[in-house]
Amino acid sequence: MNMIKKYVLVIFAFATCGMHGQEIDSVQQRQEKMQWFKDAKLGVFIHWGLYSVNGIDESWSFYNGYISHPNYLKQTNGFTAKKYDPKAWVELIKESGAKYSVITSKHHDGFALWNTKFGTLNATMGSAAKQDVLTPFVKELRKNKLKVGIYFSLPDWSYNDYTHFTRDSIRYKVSAEPKRWEKYLTYYQGQLKELSDNYNPDLYWFDGDWEHNSEEWQAPKVKQMLLDRNPKTILNSRLREHGDYATPEQGMPITRPTNKYWELCMTMNDSWGYQKNDHNYKTTDQVIGIFADVIGNGGNLLLDIGPRGDGSIPEEQVEVLKGLGRWTNKHKEAIYGTIAGIPKEHFYGPSTLSKDQTILYLFVKGNPNGEVVIRGLKNKINRIYVVGEGTKLSHQIVGKIYWSHYPGIAYVKVPDYVLDKNMTVLAVMLDGKVDLYREDGSVIESN
Ligand code: GLC
Repeated sequence: MNMIKKYVLVIFAFATCGMHGQEIDSVQQRQEKMQWFKDAKLGVFIHWGLYSVNGIDESWSFYNGYISHPNYLKQTNGFTAKKYDPKAWVELIKESGAKYSVITSKHHDGFALWNTKFGTLNATMGSAAKQDVLTPFVKELRKNKLKVGIYFSLPDWSYNDYTHFTRDSIRYKVSAEPKRWEKYLTYYQGQLKELSDNYNPDLYWFDGDWEHNSEEWQAPKVKQMLLDRNPKTILNSRLREHGDYATPEQGMPITRPTNKYWELCMTMNDSWGYQKNDHNYKTTDQVIGIFADVIGNGGNLLLDIGPRGDGSIPEEQVEVLKGLGRWTNKHKEAIYGTIAGIPKEHFYGPSTLSKDQTILYLFVKGNPNGEVVIRGLKNKINRIYVVGEGTKLSHQIVGKIYWSHYPGIAYVKVPDYVLDKNMTVLAVMLDGKVDLYREDGSVIESN
């Protein structure tokens, strides 16, 4: 055993000594529990609710005073779900390459998609649909082996015993009416218990925690209740940080997040729910580009769709999901089950690595004009091929000097005919675990 190895072992022994057995267990258990999420890479978010009827901001439209609360609630008459086809929804989600879906069981407006016993503002009792629209969707997801995520808003602005109502009117303060707040706790926790009993979700996607602190929400108790039912269930971080993973929203992280687990949630246009007047769609090309950036940095993309009040999915959204599906299907080996790629200095674009780090996947945007450049790769390259297409590519190493361990620059020749119409992916097979040159340049002392 050499000195360095010994040293590392001693440090490891010290580090684990300080950790209790239980902690090690829980780190391991967490890793196991998070594995499917880490491997999944793509999820489809669904915002469906009353707001889909008029095509206005989800819940916020009345909270911000753009429409009165009574008029907002009139949308219950238009929520028909007449064209709702959960089977077709799930087929489309599957086709996109998503491995899970997260649906708004209840947004901040309090309208529940399932047949809750708590209150009447729900699809069965309080809408033209007159049916539970959540259950058939969850069933279809399960049938297709997709993971089930339930979005649940902690606030319920329509509920009379909830504190907040609109931007300028608060019903009461918790400190002034603690008994009333308890009523709300019973109500919201009762609904959550229903969701966990009925659906046993793989993931809970909380939202709206900013209105109360952890103690007021009784966040630890809620977490415990859900974990008692299913210790493997995943919680997002919006339960006052009592969750498992971070949820950056809309803004694609520019530098690599330090969080081990994270998921970017993003709309296709500028709205979460269906808005007839919003045509500012991202192109399929852009969505794929953002997706590659996300997975290249070790995250997941939760891409949102907003079906109409009748349950149909807008054509533009179908088109993006199908376009994404063509691409994810062709390049699946570079996507699912991979880990974050190499630092940008080595390759000016997104990249991922196989779990054992012996295959480097390079995501090449547009036409690289014949050559793709990899800098400072110490490994020997065994083979390079075009993912989903198969062509073997040749490369040339430039600037490698025999007496220095500076590995030089690899130029990979990429003929035009192998290019993908959205984004080409190259697999670079290495002679071992990826090994990168990260030193300052060496000085030439003699020639
Ligand atoms: C925000 C909004 C909400 C939306 C959510 C999705 O927190 O309050 O309307 O559903 O983001 O991430």
